[in-house]
Amino acid sequence: MQQRTLSMIKPDATQRNLTGKIISKLEGGGLKIVAAKMLHLSKQQAGEFYVEHKDKVFYNTLIENMIAATIIVQVLQAEDAIALNRKIMGSTDPETAETGTVRKDFAISMQKNSVHGSDSVESAAREIAFFFNEDEIFN
Ligand code: CMP
Repeated sequence: MQQRTLSMIKPDATQRNLTGKIISKLEGGGLKIVAAKMLHLSKQQAGEFYVEHKDKVFYNTLIENMIAATIIVQVLQAEDAIALNRKIMGSTDPETAETGTVRKDFAISMQKNSVHGSDSVESAAREIAFFFNEDEIFN
């Protein structure tokens, strides 16, 4: 079944000119870009996006990192896109990420881990709607 997921290329990656290399891995892995935009998040937007983590010890650092520079948000579509995107990204911590994944190759640390991807059908729906209107998404 075709599925959509939200992908974010984070400030640590855009600042190091890694956008193209990351998109190449996503597309090369079989994900189709059906929407894309560049944004510079405000503190309020970043806080709203990551509201589920607001009580975590890493929350303040996460928000500071997310507003440090521009991000690229994309809607990616494929069969089982959520799981496929997470496989291509690799685990949250680059130390344990698998060879060839985005995070293994490009992430600096858990806090500066280059990409975000939706982790469930529910979060994909929420995160896509957070950044895109339906008429900004193409098949
Ligand atoms: P992301 O997939 O964007 O979701 C939440 C982010 O919080 C995560 O990637 C990491 O960048 C960051 N983070 C920092 N520390 C942790 C941690 N201990 N566990 C999970 N996420 C963390």
